[in-house]
Amino acid sequence: MFIAANWKMNLNKKQIQEYIVHLENFQFNDRVKACIFPSFIFIDYLSSLILDKSISLGSQNCHFETNGAFTGDISPYSLKQYGCEYVILGHSERREQYNENNNFIKKCAHSAIDAGLMPIICVGESIEIRNSGNAINFIKSQIDECLPENCKDIYIAYEPMWSIGTGIMPNNNEIEEIHSLIKNEAVKKNIDTIKVLYGGSVKPDNAEKIMSIDNVDGTLIGGASLNVKDFLAIYVAAVKQLNVIS
Ligand code: 13P
Repeated sequence: MFIAANWKMNLNKKQIQEYIVHLENFQFNDRVKACIFPSFIFIDYLSSLILDKSISLGSQNCHFETNGAFTGDISPYSLKQYGCEYVILGHSERREQYNENNNFIKKCAHSAIDAGLMPIICVGESIEIRNSGNAINFIKSQIDECLPENCKDIYIAYEPMWSIGTGIMPNNNEIEEIHSLIKNEAVKKNIDTIKVLYGGSVKPDNAEKIMSIDNVDGTLIGGASLNVKDFLAIYVAAVKQLNVIS
């Protein structure tokens, strides 16, 4: 299981320091990975705070070029140098607000892999697409167009846009349907290992239910990850779920 905290453009230096203090005596489980995605500017600071703890570090985005005239962008190689292991790509907020398209995301994924980062590619439909009955086809084409060629391992996050920050969620069958579709599409592309995370209104009170759904390999958490107690409660729900299946 993989429990990811996407802090988006939130938390200042003092808040991050206080957050990490709360994690100090927490017993992380080897089979459930926790990963934090702070904003770029705090990656180095966070890395210095979590040096000897069982938490991984990730970035919320990267550029597809190694270096060059890309004002305001970050190379995946720089992220790697600062201790990142994962990078979120194609979050719907990037797709909507910065016009990132499938082709751009695929190039970023290639470049992230070359730099030694694991991409977490986000897919998810709008409410209009869901209501028109086209969610399956839409996700299929996102997967088809975003997934890098010849990659062995990949993470995909299914984040229905209408569920992000709304408190509204797909039902268990809808989540299972999309997660198994994503895994089937990845198999067609000869990917060895694919992990599919669910994101959208994940909270302590629904985390156990979400993680009991087939083909859910973890969660990508926005709002609830800003509160360390909520984040840890979701983490504990993942550990409980693992104990149920094993
Ligand atoms: P919320 O958990 O706030 O709905 O956000 C989900 C998300 O966008 C994570 O990337």
